[in-house]
Amino acid sequence: MSISQDTKELNSYINKKVDIESVASFKGNEHIIKLNLKFDINQMREALDEVKAMSEFKTAASGFHALAMTRRKNSSVESDNNLVGRYYTRLDDSYEEIAKDELVDEGSFTELVEVFKGTYFETIHKELSARYPIGRVRILEKDSFNCNSWHRDPEPRIHIPIYTNPGSLFIVNHHCTHLPADGSVYFTDTRGYHTALNGGDEPRTHLVATLAYPEYKP
Ligand SMILES: [Fe+2]
Repeated sequence: MSISQDTKELNSYINKKVDIESVASFKGNEHIIKLNLKFDINQMREALDEVKAMSEFKTAASGFHALAMTRRKNSSVESDNNLVGRYYTRLDDSYEEIAKDELVDEGSFTELVEVFKGTYFETIHKELSARYPIGRVRILEKDSFNCNSWHRDPEPRIHIPIYTNPGSLFIVNHHCTHLPADGSVYFTDTRGYHTALNGGDEPRTHLVATLAYPEYKP
């Protein structure tokens, strides 16, 4: 331990230029990838207005609201709406991982909920399903100054931002990025530990589709 060396060490960091620009854009890594597929953001927003006029979001957790876009055959939207689905988390300073809730058969969520039929979301659902094994699809709304739990899911997800702000961030493992709402489609490997947070003044709205691959066992 040396006073002068410690002072010098900190000075070497102080003299570095701090990047305040790139955080307002997307920066991917192996866990968050912008795909080539793209949708029309204006049509998505119009469709959201249509759907919102006919249905109500269900509050899944404090400041976190969900609207189910798909349901299982022979089941009501209401019963499927209550599903949180299996996730794994570490809750306390024991750092021990625990499993919460029940495993959901994602592959059985093949039916589009009535209010979405005939809207641009039906086109999106069709295009996604033609390419990937799409399970549950939901519109997830996050209030201002709100954040999800720190957890991992059994399967990865597709995120399509509809409304966002620069303070809305997605974190997977050690990586954090903003996802702009410009029609882009993002693969988020939520099999890694992750959370989503909205540190902005306005609500954030994403279309989130579960990829119905078999449960990932680390
Ligand atoms: Fe998750």
